[in-house]
Amino acid sequence: MSKFLQFLSDITHIHHRAAFTDVKKRTTPETSAFLKLAQERYSCRSFADAEVAQADIDQILEAARLAPTAMNRQPVHVWVIKSKEAMEKLGKTTQYLYGAPVVFLVACKKEDAWVRKYDGKNGAEVDASIVGTHIMMEAADLGLGSVWVGSFDPAKVLELFPELAGYEPVVLFPVGIPAGGPGINHGKRIKKEKFASEL
Ligand SMILES: Cc1cc2nc3c(=O)[nH]c(=O)nc-3n(C[C@H](O)[C@H](O)[C@H](O)COP(=O)(O)O)c2cc1C
Repeated sequence: MSKFLQFLSDITHIHHRAAFTDVKKRTTPETSAFLKLAQERYSCRSFADAEVAQADIDQILEAARLAPTAMNRQPVHVWVIKSKEAMEKLGKTTQYLYGAPVVFLVACKKEDAWVRKYDGKNGAEVDASIVGTHIMMEAADLGLGSVWVGSFDPAKVLELFPELAGYEPVVLFPVGIPAGGPGINHGKRIKKEKFASEL
């Protein structure tokens, strides 16, 4: 093969890798690390009395930062709640912190988000949900427990945390070292036939 062709071949290979279409990366249900993680992740509602390492917090934030958003508008901000004072305030807005040592609060700014022209639907909450999902899955990949908490008083969050001015809180994630296993709903999922259809 000519040097030029070799060069083109290398470029194509590099391009393929960058585009994540490299056939060598393909997995099966048996080998997919993500599928295994999705099966093993559960809502953790009991945490050890131990800190989460700053390196783990940073890794979770990096996974969150990489999440896709509509038109790449990135209308999402994450607050990391760790201090006793902030945790006590947050505890006044929900009963579902489960004594976790750290909580990730995901909020979105509607005015920064993409809006669908056909019906005016604002994409901020969908974007925040994707960021939240990255937080949840990265925490699981680190062997940490987490739970998606949607049951909190958003008005109270805004009142107690003026730092969130202009944002809408979407989800809280208590995170810590797991001290309890899955709840009764884990693994209870509707059957494939009911969940997905072909048209
Ligand atoms: C949008 C959303 C809101 C949720 N809110 C709460 C909550 O406020 N408190 C809680 O303990 N769990 C909450 N959960 C966790 C669900 O109850 C849990 O994911 C579901 O029962 C399945 O269990 P699993 O995550 O262990 O598989 C929430 C989950 C989602 C996706």
